[in-house]
Amino acid sequence: MQLPYPHAHPFPLILAPMAGVSEAPFRQICRGMGADVVISEFLSSEAIRRRIRTTLEGAEFEECERPIGIQIYGSDANAMAEAAGLITEHYRPEFIDINFGCPVKKVVLRNGGSGCLRDMDLVERIIKAVIGATDLPVTVKTRSGWNDESRDPVSIALRMQDAGARAFTLHARTRTQMFSGNANWDEIARVVEALEIPVIGNGDIASADDVVRMRAHTGCAGAMVGRGAFGNPWLFRDAQALLAGDDRPPAADATERFRVALAHARLAIRLQGDSRRTVIEFRKHLGWYTRGLHGASDLRQRLFQVETIAEAEAIFMNYLAPLAQVA
Ligand SMILES: Cc1cc2nc3c(=O)[nH]c(=O)nc-3n(C[C@H](O)[C@H](O)[C@H](O)COP(=O)(O)O)c2cc1C
Repeated sequence: MQLPYPHAHPFPLILAPMAGVSEAPFRQICRGMGADVVISEFLSSEAIRRRIRTTLEGAEFEECERPIGIQIYGSDANAMAEAAGLITEHYRPEFIDINFGCPVKKVVLRNGGSGCLRDMDLVERIIKAVIGATDLPVTVKTRSGWNDESRDPVSIALRMQDAGARAFTLHARTRTQMFSGNANWDEIARVVEALEIPVIGNGDIASADDVVRMRAHTGCAGAMVGRGAFGNPWLFRDAQALLAGDDRPPAADATERFRVALAHARLAIRLQGDSRRTVIEFRKHLGWYTRGLHGASDLRQRLFQVETIAEAEAIFMNYLAPLAQVA
């Protein structure tokens, strides 16, 4: 069965849905760098159903981001169906993704996210209800299980496939693991063996080489990258080159990193408002873009205090000035 992503490379690279990070500005930067597909951060179906403005804003995207999936979560099949219907009608993404993986307490307490994994009948009802409410493909993203005792990604995956999911993304950790330990890529390989629908591998891809390793190790149909893309959208460019059998492009130097960081910041200002709040929320990205640079911690300390993008630009210029003299 084919992946529901038009115009993607044969082995698509997907930017992971990440609350507070994979918002429109970062999605656009990653698409520009070679990510084939992007997904919104998870949106509460209850909040969508109640037309909560801030949640609906999370479903907005620009044409250049396509193909895009909007991700929803919740434990009430009716609310999930209503949310899927509204997203389909008003935003028309390429697909709707259901989050069955979120480990955050406030979400799982109400059986949202990975909380659903404790009740697979509920999971089945939710998937079927969402499919019934939209003409768009419905994909799912989940973890390997609730805890070590109930860890059984193959059964979970088969159940989700039978319910009608069009693609299955596995973050190969349990809920109780949160982000500790390593993602178990062997589990992804086992799920690939067992399913007919495409399986997307996710968890601990930190470099372009890891993308190639993930494909070789698991036989997955595509790779999803989360934290590895923080401040490093070049990972997508590099992985596309390696997958195509081309040479690895030269690593982004400080000038290139600052250029992209500022382009990203300007997108944030345009799309999220020219406000102090936008800049403060953006500080984390500024920090990530400096990772690995000489003097990064000092640079980061200063960037974490900026209140305007002009201040960040000045810090970058200041950093580059002595380098320019040497050159
Ligand atoms: C800050 C952050 C926010 C996240 N938000 C979501 C989310 O909204 N929906 C979701 O399905 N997964 C979410 N995740 C999980 C990621 O999509 C991904 O499955 C996980 O980070 C493992 O991939 P990685 O090792 O490449 O980061 C989030 C992860 C992080 C670090």
